[in-house]
Amino acid sequence: MMKKSAGVEQSNPLFRQVYEFMLNRIERGEWKAHDKLPSIRLLADELGVHRLTVFKAYRALTENGMLYVKDKSGYYVSPGSRLANSVEEGAAILGYTVKSPMSDIQRKPVTYQFSQALIDPGLLPNLFLSDYVKKVFDLYPKVMGTYSSVQGDEELRTTLSRHFHDRYRLQLSAGELLITSGAQQAINLIAGIMLGPMDAVLVERPTYSVALDIFRRAGARLVPVEISPQGYDLAAVEELMRRHKPRMFYINPTHHNPTGYTVPAKQRKLLVELAERYRCLLVEDDPFRDMHFEEEPPTPFFAYDTEGWVIYISSFSKYVAPGLRICAVACRYPFMERLIAAKSLADNGTPLLNQKIFLHYYTSPRLQQHLGKLRIALQVHKEIMEEELAAAGWEWTAPQGGLNLWVKLPDTVPVDTLFVRCMEQSISFVPGEICDPLGEMKSWLRLSYSFASEGLLREGMRRLTAIAREIEAEGRRGE
Ligand SMILES: Cc1ncc(COP(=O)(O)O)c(C=O)c1O
Repeated sequence: MMKKSAGVEQSNPLFRQVYEFMLNRIERGEWKAHDKLPSIRLLADELGVHRLTVFKAYRALTENGMLYVKDKSGYYVSPGSRLANSVEEGAAILGYTVKSPMSDIQRKPVTYQFSQALIDPGLLPNLFLSDYVKKVFDLYPKVMGTYSSVQGDEELRTTLSRHFHDRYRLQLSAGELLITSGAQQAINLIAGIMLGPMDAVLVERPTYSVALDIFRRAGARLVPVEISPQGYDLAAVEELMRRHKPRMFYINPTHHNPTGYTVPAKQRKLLVELAERYRCLLVEDDPFRDMHFEEEPPTPFFAYDTEGWVIYISSFSKYVAPGLRICAVACRYPFMERLIAAKSLADNGTPLLNQKIFLHYYTSPRLQQHLGKLRIALQVHKEIMEEELAAAGWEWTAPQGGLNLWVKLPDTVPVDTLFVRCMEQSISFVPGEICDPLGEMKSWLRLSYSFASEGLLREGMRRLTAIAREIEAEGRRGE
């Protein structure tokens, strides 16, 4: 069944979330044909929203044919309002309707790849890694014959706790680290523990779109916090914490995806204090820290935390090997106990072979040599992209590290048209609205400079800006 528009109310984010929440219950078959729905008062109390919001959502669902009203008796589910065909029926039974616009974009192979925040495999240490595969099988001949412990290989956790101490000044024991299969799994596990339907979660605006999809699937209520080159407006964050009592604030404060901004040092301690005061867990996702151009970024938020209100996620997917899926999550007891339990249900531990290969590469001197070269290569890539953007007269804030540029399009170039035409010509990018918890930001796009080789980068950017010029010219001619 097609989901029809819910009218003008769609622009109200809270209404939209309540509407989606109900729609999901119907689509999953939790609310079945001819079931009577809870009263408006009851549902408003359950969701922690105003009754008028629930009333408007009931009304919109009635207009869309999903519900019907019986005089004085209340709202009922219309027959046939569940997803119709058998494939969709299966999806509805399995869970909430899951959409991932980012994975839809990534699925189509393209020549000029600017939508993947990944590093050109040619710049990663693939050849060296094969040496370590051999070494690992020599050292641990039974490595494939056993599970890892759920929390992760102890040798690796001990090494990483030392590394976090020496490099980022984090005081951690090996017992305070969990190895996950990528940062995405870590976000998923934390969301599973922390978020239930309509729980408030603070998210940066814009942010990493997959995290938004994970929180939406948990049924959470997204509360946006603007991020700028100067960081956050802490007074506004405090007001949001006071008003919404969020369970957590998901942040990516260092060479942020998609903007590249870095939250300044002076805000870090203050935000941790706010999190402690309002009992709001800070989930610090930090995969780009080591990909800086000149200066080292400020210390992680985790370093300021004394009471266990920060969880630190450090993925090595970006600059070591996305294929190994190695990420470390740092948190204090008792949250670690809950994370381990969630991880054991998810996959019973990240593959030991991957952890051991990573460990041996990570402790070798090759890592620092690789990082030194990689930083230079990324800076060259960034500058090529910036030269082409400057030639086109577009606007962006130059980042101090990371993999992306967050670019403002001229008003004369609609991003939807640009996206369709670019995909037709085998050029991909991420439209800004995907990264926006409110689904707006239509004149922005995220361009990743790290994946395409230098030649393809220059050529692809020239093509992309030429397509934009054509669209502008058509607009002037009124086509
Ligand atoms: C902010 C952020 N967090 C997490 C991830 C996913 O990391 P992983 O590959 O370790 O799952 C990405 C990937 O782009 C990201 O940008």
